Amino acid sequence: MRLEEILYSQGFGTRRVCLGLIQQGHVRVGAEDRLAQDPDEDLETDGLVFRVQDELWAFQPLAYLMLNKPAGYECSQKPSVHPSVYTLLPPPLRQRPGGASAGVQTVGRLDQDTTGLLLLSDDGKFIHRMSSPKHHVPKVYQATVRDAMDEQQRRRLLEGVVLRDDPKPVKAVACEITGPHTLSLTLTEGKYHQVKRMLAAVGNLVTGLHRSQTGSLHLPDELSRGEWRWLTQEEVASLTARQT
Ligand code: URA
Repeated sequence: MRLEEILYSQGFGTRRVCLGLIQQGHVRVGAEDRLAQDPDEDLETDGLVFRVQDELWAFQPLAYLMLNKPAGYECSQKPSVHPSVYTLLPPPLRQRPGGASAGVQTVGRLDQDTTGLLLLSDDGKFIHRMSSPKHHVPKVYQATVRDAMDEQQRRRLLEGVVLRDDPKPVKAVACEITGPHTLSLTLTEGKYHQVKRMLAAVGNLVTGLHRSQTGSLHLPDELSRGEWRWLTQEEVASLTARQT
């Protein structure tokens, strides 16, 4: 692929900006960090690493990443009160060219005060595959609640509760009481405020919420709050292979 096209495809700006970056000597390629000033240079993209100014980048045909979402961030591109999770990502990820929506998009949403595993991608099929209720991708949440959990609440969450304005009962596929005020809840749908509304329906109140797992993917301990990393090919394959 041409060097200028590589920069453009990875989100380093318009074609004109990319051309300027190359011609002004801001681009280095390969492990040897070689200065590359020919916009037409043809490079093998598989495994390609390059540097644009101080940003070291690994070429990715499509972007799949995970973010350890901190509290106090909204999943919207245009947040109303709190900063957007997109501000936690480097600009190229937000600028990658795409169809209607440029840049990576979140796979579903977490509330502003929810922490934990958030997937993002610019692969529309992947986003649909992971967020469509038809595919039943399990999501595991660790909730802290105001009132001590009891067996009756746990049973009701598993049997199904009716949420206001939604006549069809929703149920957890797994629910484990992990402490007097903590539980682990696995859901395969992603309705608005679902965990909070389910706990409210059994007479309790969520005071803290964290997503620890989506499908086969666990939030790794080493990924600090606010940090992101690429998903490995194996992680993407295992997420999309899952048929439940
Ligand atoms: N359920 C909620 O209530 N909030 C979230 O952020 C995710 C699931």
